[in-house]
Amino acid sequence: MRKPFLVVFVLFVTFLNAQNDKPKGMEEMWGEQNSLGNDAPTSRTALFDEGNYAMFIHWGLYSSIGNQWKDSTYYGISEWIMNPRRAGIPVEEYKAETKNFNPVNFDATAIAQLAKDAGMKYIVITSKHHDGFAMYDSKSNDFNIVNATPFARDPMKELAKACKNFGLGFGFYYSHNQDWTFPGGNGGPSVNEKGKEVGFDYYFKKKCLPQVKEIVTNYGDIAMVWFDTPGEMEKKYVEELVKVVRKYQPNAMISGRAGHGLGDYKSLGDMNIPVKNIGGLWETVDVTNDSWGYAWYDKNWKSPKRILKSVISTVARGGTYMLNVGPSPDGTIPFEAKKSLQISGDWIAKYPHVLYNAGASPWGHALSWGDVTIASDGKLNLCVYKWPLDGELWLPGLKNTIKTANLWVDGKKLKLETNKNGNWVNFILPTQRPEKLVSIIEIEIDGQPEVSFANTIDPVFATELPVAFAAAQECTIAEKKWMEKFGEWKHIEQAQDWTEKSSVSWEVVVMEPGYYQTELNYTGEGRLVWNITSDENVVVQNQQNSSGVYQYFEMGLLKFNKPGKHSITISLVDGNTKSASLKELRLTPQKSME
Ligand code: GLC
Repeated sequence: MRKPFLVVFVLFVTFLNAQNDKPKGMEEMWGEQNSLGNDAPTSRTALFDEGNYAMFIHWGLYSSIGNQWKDSTYYGISEWIMNPRRAGIPVEEYKAETKNFNPVNFDATAIAQLAKDAGMKYIVITSKHHDGFAMYDSKSNDFNIVNATPFARDPMKELAKACKNFGLGFGFYYSHNQDWTFPGGNGGPSVNEKGKEVGFDYYFKKKCLPQVKEIVTNYGDIAMVWFDTPGEMEKKYVEELVKVVRKYQPNAMISGRAGHGLGDYKSLGDMNIPVKNIGGLWETVDVTNDSWGYAWYDKNWKSPKRILKSVISTVARGGTYMLNVGPSPDGTIPFEAKKSLQISGDWIAKYPHVLYNAGASPWGHALSWGDVTIASDGKLNLCVYKWPLDGELWLPGLKNTIKTANLWVDGKKLKLETNKNGNWVNFILPTQRPEKLVSIIEIEIDGQPEVSFANTIDPVFATELPVAFAAAQECTIAEKKWMEKFGEWKHIEQAQDWTEKSSVSWEVVVMEPGYYQTELNYTGEGRLVWNITSDENVVVQNQQNSSGVYQYFEMGLLKFNKPGKHSITISLVDGNTKSASLKELRLTPQKSME
């Protein structure tokens, strides 16, 4: 047989094989060659553009342990229970837990129904977490729910089908770098079953790559592959995984945590809702309580209102919000998580235009009484979290003319009277808020929204000024994140490295002159003397104690003598300046002092 023909024949056979292992239900996308990187086609980014809201599910062997190991409870994210930083469970002892994992009440339809009712557009579920246990029928490794547990079913097949039936996207979380039970996995054993020293390449070839191929070929169309904690994983491995995903699921989004910038979008740190708008495609992920995986004690459930504020404000910052549920040991979603998701979902069903296809707030940050998104028809959705007691709500700095202003009341639009004070607009509202959760004022403006980006001091509600919007002199404004409990992340920006010469200052616009209570939110050691001085040389200076955790301390009444532009400068005049870090200034109008 002549050589060229042989080459052609081999290529043809290879092509046929490639066709055979195409996932079921996958339309012909073979002509599309996606490079490794962010040239995501719009069909792939539709999830973010249209949806903006998704369900994350952390479900695994750790769910049946629930952060209680032997006679100790571990507080923090429960999917880490095996890790030496938690209970430090030996591999074989952890694997033996599979005999107790039997989530007999798992109901894929109920979970998909809940996501639908919550207003979520897709589900991303843990196929294999850091512990190495696969929650699907893996042929490449028998440490999985089908082979190793009495449950002996593939819940991912069921959930993929249920999502399809409900018109939801379906995606997998896969921890591609860490694997604490497989030899060579990051954090895993260093010798294989034959006692031979092995490295990451061994884990990658024997488990990671085959499993990623399984999850992108055996479960139909995949909306997202959510790789996590790439750590120091070499680029060549991430590239190989991305290539597999692109080959079999060219429409799947790849998370920003794939590593080496090879994801399709930016993934923020856990539980981080930014205070400033962020451009481009990005998501933040959060929890309905404090732990991703189920933890027996964790009842810190987010209320429906808190869920709405989180998803609205994430969309208002320009992002997508993926909110996690951690199924109980029996496979069901805890009642309170379900309830809050359903109630907040009922609200979203009434106001879908506030989230879906909605754009970021032209103000660039939240306002004192709520937040703003831009509906796809260009109208502004004023999302009122705090209803004004005296019926006046002020919108600062909008340069456009307001053509119409309506309050949504019981599905109908109530025309609102407005009046102006400089470039502040006031809406005269009924005393009774129309929504117990979040009320919506819809305004139509001429042209693209134009907003003065000053820090505006609300005349009715307290205004919080994070240092993220301040200028620093002789000190540093830096991002600070810490774990409240293990794995429960908090994110702020703080002014640090204080000396007697340091200060931070805000340029603000005050509508109503008069007295404002000032409070500072800071941490430090011992008693600190802070000075607050305005451009009118009005000074508030006070000594207050400090604490190791951020909290507010009252400073005193600051008086603005006239409306308009002002500056407020804060300095630390005495005490252990090095220990201090300032988070924000809060100004609360003292109308009774008028
Ligand atoms: C962190 C945790 C992991 C969790 C993930 C969720 O990476 O290590 O346990 O699944 O955050 O975003």
